[in-house]
Amino acid sequence: MVIKKVGVIGCGLMGHGIVQVAAGGGSTVVALESEQRFLDAGLARIDKSLSKLAEKEVEKGKQTAENAKAWVAAVRGRISGTLDRKALADCDLVVEAIVEDLPTKLSLFKELGSICKPSTILASNTSSFPIAEMAEASGRPERVVGLHFFNPVQLMKLVEVVRTPKTSDEVFAAARAFGESCGKTPVACKDTPGFVVNRLLVPYMAQALSMLERGDASKEDIDAAMQLGCGYPMGPITLTDYVGLDTTLSIIQGWVKRFPSEPAFAVPRILEQKVKEGKLGRKSGEGFYKWEGDKKA
Ligand code: 3HC
Repeated sequence: MVIKKVGVIGCGLMGHGIVQVAAGGGSTVVALESEQRFLDAGLARIDKSLSKLAEKEVEKGKQTAENAKAWVAAVRGRISGTLDRKALADCDLVVEAIVEDLPTKLSLFKELGSICKPSTILASNTSSFPIAEMAEASGRPERVVGLHFFNPVQLMKLVEVVRTPKTSDEVFAAARAFGESCGKTPVACKDTPGFVVNRLLVPYMAQALSMLERGDASKEDIDAAMQLGCGYPMGPITLTDYVGLDTTLSIIQGWVKRFPSEPAFAVPRILEQKVKEGKLGRKSGEGFYKWEGDKKA
């Protein structure tokens, strides 16, 4: 099965990146948002990112300015935006990248099951919720997978392709091939909490926050230690700001609820406190650090 037309639901932090890499891989992409202003903001981010990537290709001498401009126009030309869910009906693949709230995702999958043509593959970019629950809600569990991208989607080279016991081989293979067409390396995952990356990454970030809360080291020193000692591109406190404190909190809270006896899953109080104060990280201009746009202030 070849994926030619893709729908992406949500054009925010993750969704806009998924729209962009899917179009970059040659698919025709429909970006769906709930309000025009969110759609406009997502498409503007795509324009900015495409220009940046094109500029870098020219700087490195990999492309002429003319070819880079033509590439941007071609990718952008494959993207359209809509507020109408029915526009997803004839997509070969629909990827959900909405807010991390399970009841909202379940009702969306139920609706997608009735809107989309029978062959449409439905995928979720969820960070940590069970794909199997969304699959059952859709009424077509054999055609549902997880496609978990990483932030920033345009630059991170991985996609986790998650299968439930009911995902068909054909659907899994098509989802994997789609990930490759987006320029990503796919890894196959089972439908376990956090799949591979977040199961390892989120407890590590939570440990770093507990360390900060105890006063074992400053945030700058914790970040410097992991960057310089382990070669990580970002330290864990900066990464929490980058991913979003609300997202990180909701992942851990979900796990604590589902797996109360798992010691690796514990909510750092400092994280809860910051979210209560509306300090959500890069997206709100302040988390553990202050941010000016995409850069730390
Ligand atoms: N599109 C195009 N260009 C972009 C971009 C985007 N979306 N984002 C950044 N860039 C560009 C920057 O503008 C910059 O260009 P310049 O050199 O001309 O100024 C260049 O890429 C490098 O960016 P930065 O200067 O900001 O800094 P870095 O060299 O540190 O690279 C990074 C940025 C790739 C984000 C790197 O820091 C990194 O890999 N960090 C770790 C990110 C990570 O771990 N992500 C996974 C999070 S977990 C997740 O997503 C799962 C979820 O479920 C929670």
